[in-house]
Amino acid sequence: MSNTSRFVASAIVVLALASVLAFVASHRNVGPTGKPHESVASAATAAVAPPLPAVAVVPAGAGLDALRRGADIDKEIAPPAMARAENTDIKRNRAYPMQPPTIPHTIDNYQIDRNSNRCMLCHARANADKFQAPPVSVTHYMDRDDQFLATISPRRYFCNQCHVVQTDAQPLVANGFKDIDTVLSEQKAN
Ligand code: HEC
Ligand code: HEC
Repeated sequence: MSNTSRFVASAIVVLALASVLAFVASHRNVGPTGKPHESVASAATAAVAPPLPAVAVVPAGAGLDALRRGADIDKEIAPPAMARAENTDIKRNRAYPMQPPTIPHTIDNYQIDRNSNRCMLCHARANADKFQAPPVSVTHYMDRDDQFLATISPRRYFCNQCHVVQTDAQPLVANGFKDIDTVLSEQKAN
């Protein structure tokens, strides 16, 4: 393309854009406050719009959702204090075999992205002794066909998918979970 034809082509594009903008501006119908007039029009039509279908009425105080701590949906409740992540360095018991163990230390600012995985700084087999961290188990090096890889498996790369810190927050919903040892000892007692 020669310089002249390039100039002509870009001039056409600029002209086309300018005319579209001018057309939009003339049709926007902007009010003195800068607010489009449509909002006034829609408020007027809303007054005659058919009423919404009736919804089931929940008796006051019945508590819609335990996560809302029994408060009515139209009530604002004081949020609980921010919970702190536990940083005890003491491993917790696992509730069942193959449970991903919870993280016994804080993980603030531990970056996990395409270029770096902070967790593997300590938890890779090669570094674990230096940091006295438990190395990730062999399952973390297995691909979906159970083949062992030399480095962490892509499906185990984002640690927080499965491992989480624990906080000192009080549970909002009661939990009746019993591990298998408790179930077995209860059966034996009966
Ligand atoms: C600075 C080193 C270091 C880094 C970084 C680190 N950890 Fe740890 N991690 C440890 C050590 C040491 C332990 C052993 C318990 C302790 O001392 O806290 C541990 C324990 C754990 C455990 C408990 C294992 C078990 O058997 O109970 C899990 C799970 C864990 N870390 C996950 C993570 C995850 C996920 C990340 C990244 C978000 C991470 N760690 C980053 C050092 C580290
Ligand atoms: C898809 C879920 C998943 C992801 C992702 C995952 N883990 Fe695990 N992790 C587990 C499970 C399940 C176990 C317990 C059974 C096992 O060892 O496979 C475990 C065990 C561990 C243990 C204890 C090992 C032992 O021998 O006691 C450590 C430490 C750990 N993971 C760290 C990590 C780190 C660090 C990452 C990220 C690089 C990670 N995990 C990613 C599921 C996961």
